[in-house]
Parts: sequence; C-alpha cells; structure tokens
Amino acid sequence: DMTTATMDLKQHIRGIPDFPKPGILFYDISTLMRNADAWQVAMGRVTHAVAPWAPDMLAAIESRGFLTAAPLASRLGCGLVMLRKPGKLPGETVAHSYELEYGSDTLHIQADAIVPGQRVVVMDDLLATGGTLAASIALLRKVGANVVGASVLVELTALGGRARLDVPVRALVSYD
Ligand code: PRP
Ligand code: MG
Repeated sequence: DMTTATMDLKQHIRGIPDFPKPGILFYDISTLMRNADAWQVAMGRVTHAVAPWAPDMLAAIESRGFLTAAPLASRLGCGLVMLRKPGKLPGETVAHSYELEYGSDTLHIQADAIVPGQRVVVMDDLLATGGTLAASIALLRKVGANVVGASVLVELTALGGRARLDVPVRALVSYD
C-alpha cells in the first residue's frame, strides 16, 4: 500500500553522537528493527535490491550483518553463511586480516562454506570506510566465491567506502 511504498526509513534510524568514540555519529538500526512495520518494509526493499543478482548464498558479517542477512536469505530462498571474528567457528576455517585505523582485525569463514563459483552477496548493516566489506569480499574469494554484490542498510557516503569495493553496492539509505 501507499504507506509501505512511501515510508521514510530514515525516520526509524537514530544518529547517536559520540559513540563509540567522541566525534563519531553512530547510525543505530536498533530503532528500525524494533518497529515491526518499518523492519518489514526495510527487508522488502533489500530483497528487491538483491534479488536481481540471483545469489546462491548470502554472506553475513558479524555481528549486525547477521540481523539483516538472515531474514533476507529466508525471503530469497538462498543459503546463509557467517563471516565471524576469530575463535567462533567450529572446524577448519580460512581467515583474512585487515587494517583498521588503530590495529587490525580478522574475519573467518568455514573452509567448506562455499562451493567454488557460487554466486555470493555479502551483507552488513552499514558501509563506512569500506574496510570491513573489502576484507569480507577478499575472504570470500579465498574460498572460491563469485562475489556478485554487496548490500547494506546504511551508507555513509562521505567516507567513500564504495570506491574501495570492486562489486556493485546497494544501500537502502545514505547519509552525507
Ligand atoms: C560496524 C558496522 C560495519 C562496520 C563498517 O561494525 O556494523 O560492520 O563497522 O565500518 P567500515 O566500513 O569502516 O569497515 P563494528 O566493527 O562496530 O562491529 P559489530 O557489527 O560487531 O557491532
Ligand atoms: Mg559490523
């Protein structure tokens, strides 16, 4: 209906100043998820954005990417794999480390999670500098994925993260 078609999802996303550090404006999807209608609309719109890529698998980035990818995989009828922080996944894993502003971080995937050549869409809640998504794409390629796109709810365009990614990116809402 018209309410669904015109709903402004930004009205359900809060910007919280000085979190997690002074000077950072944190866009919080908690309020979007709390509102059943708004969350339904958001997941419907992401489904429409991602479906044309015809993924075999969604790859969800710990931890807030899990929340967006799981309902989407269910709607698309595709599989779901977790990209996790160290020490969380059982069995043989493949890792990829990446640099942060201060220090570095590592993501793991189960070594047998992807059948080589499978079409994979990687999902997270938010695209900022693009470091997390770029690392996730590199990790997925190590295990043979054909990464066909990246999907986020929120993009912070001023940080230029999209330019670091060599796959198409779809964002539901963006902020300068
Ligand atoms: C946040 C967000 C993205 C990432 C985006 O995750 O959920 O994953 O940062 O930043 P980037 O584009 O600059 O890499 P965070 O590290 O806060 O962890 P969390 O999802 O586990 O809370
Ligand atoms: Mg995250």
